[in-house]
Amino acid sequence: GDVDSGSLVIDAEQTQLLEQASAQAQPFSKHQAMVTPATRSDFGDFQVNAAMGLAQALQLNPRECAQQIMTRLRPKIADVMEEPEIAGPGFVNLRFKTDYLTATVAAMANDASGRLALPAVAQKQKIVVDFSSPNIAKEMHVGHLRSTIIGDTLCRVLEFVGHDVVRLNHVGDWGTQFGMLVEHLRDEFPEALQPSQNPVDLGDLVVLYKAAKKRFDEDDEFKVRAREGVVKLQAGQPEELAAWETLCAASRVEFEKIYRMLNIQGLQERGESFYNPYLKDVVDELKAKGMAVESDGATVIYIDGYTNRDGSPLPMIVQKSDGGFNYATTDLAAIRQRTLLLSDEGGEQADRVLYVTDAGQSQHFEMVFQAAKQAGFAPTHARLEHVPFGLVQGEDGKKFATRSGETVKLKDLLHEAVKRAGHDLRSRNAATANVAYLEQIDRIAHIVGIGAVKYADLSMNRESNYRFSYDRMLSLNGNTAPYMLYSYARICGIVRKGSGQADDAVLEWPSSADIVISHETELELMRNLVRLPDVIAEVERDLYPHKICDYLFETSQKFNQFYEHCSVNQAETPELKASRLTLCVATAGTLRLLLNLLGIEVVERL
Ligand code: ARG
Repeated sequence: GDVDSGSLVIDAEQTQLLEQASAQAQPFSKHQAMVTPATRSDFGDFQVNAAMGLAQALQLNPRECAQQIMTRLRPKIADVMEEPEIAGPGFVNLRFKTDYLTATVAAMANDASGRLALPAVAQKQKIVVDFSSPNIAKEMHVGHLRSTIIGDTLCRVLEFVGHDVVRLNHVGDWGTQFGMLVEHLRDEFPEALQPSQNPVDLGDLVVLYKAAKKRFDEDDEFKVRAREGVVKLQAGQPEELAAWETLCAASRVEFEKIYRMLNIQGLQERGESFYNPYLKDVVDELKAKGMAVESDGATVIYIDGYTNRDGSPLPMIVQKSDGGFNYATTDLAAIRQRTLLLSDEGGEQADRVLYVTDAGQSQHFEMVFQAAKQAGFAPTHARLEHVPFGLVQGEDGKKFATRSGETVKLKDLLHEAVKRAGHDLRSRNAATANVAYLEQIDRIAHIVGIGAVKYADLSMNRESNYRFSYDRMLSLNGNTAPYMLYSYARICGIVRKGSGQADDAVLEWPSSADIVISHETELELMRNLVRLPDVIAEVERDLYPHKICDYLFETSQKFNQFYEHCSVNQAETPELKASRLTLCVATAGTLRLLLNLLGIEVVERL
């Protein structure tokens, strides 16, 4: 059975029994039947809660059930867990053996690769992650920022686990708005319509977009031209195509600036236009399969379970009455490309495809996924998952905007965070004479400022709306990037001193010593550290990055409690000192790995 802990395995018979029972005893999910982390650390590390449900389903005494579970479990977990204990009505409590903890943590500390002795996944999957996906000639807004940050983190986690990850930027580079933009360029920047010329400076694209939109709304003659412009563009006319390419190139320059600041790597642009040649096929196939029908001149599909408020079936348009295809058609074509086409045909054959967008698009994706499966555009085993997130709001919970009510430019937002972080660093280090540090202060301000923006976003349950606050994200207290970065740097300082390394040299991590336990807090820290693989596995499965932040925060708190009670550099014996240094190394490694998975670099001195 699939069990939460990397090291616990329940045999097939046990799993079957539990599944049978859970099928009978509703509400009782399969997951609950298995092993879960203990709700309180004095109960142990894990608990099996199955006995109560099992007892009800099988008409047995719950404690007797617990006894049976224990008997079956005992031989399988004997190397890792203490003798299980039954508590209350029939909980089975499991606690790590101290030997297991010390050996595991020493191995984590000893892995020079930075993987903390975590093995790569046995079953490698191909996973496409569709994220960031801003729109050409429009502002890349805070929603795209969230998508970029969350998507990048998920990619890093999945890749770390050992999967083959393809990062795709589904840029909005196609659609009717290009008609008005092209025609506006024809009047204002005629050189942009000449193919194979040097890049044309179009100025602020948002200003350009607004101007084109204004003409489109106010000038009927222009509107007609715009409509014809789209048709010509879609037919591949050279002038229109050149203008479109000019727009894409100009937007790309702006997007790249943001990606560079955020250190987003490996993101391939594969915009909506890429799927244009396949859209007609998609609709033809939907018609041939009897899924697509005419409705008011448009071609639509109906999907089981989706209705309007009044209960009538909700159509999903795949071809508009003017013959144009839309967002949904493009996504259907994209799914086929990603999950069905062989890689030598330019597709990915992905096992799993993730779409990181705002929660407002949930219904779109649900319908598209269902339609794709029904139409055979994706094999049944392919996992198509929408990864929704909430809105970014101002500190007051209202729309996120500048003081004068305008939309905030991402570039400005990121620069502001870096500026504030730099200001904090300089004022705190005003008396520092460490030249090496001072030389790096701009680089460090960048890490702290950008890290703060990322961490603030990632530490929230992504489905909730999130209130943007520079003060909160840059605070040294609480679950923030600066706090985590300081915790890391502090451990570096302790190790530096404990192992007698010079203050201005790059830290060398001492190799592991045997871990000796002298205080409860050492045990508590280790019980936390060995949970690392479970936390990563949970994010791999459920795609909630805040689980990483919660765990990071807990780890640093456990470390603080340990350090409060156990001096490293004044340890009573050399063995104890070496043991505690090993705990420091494992903790630092855990913080570093997880911050890196969040796209945040660490620094040894802050
Ligand atoms: N460009 C879209 C937007 O700005 C997001 C695209 C998401 N990906 C997709 N395959 N539909 O909202």
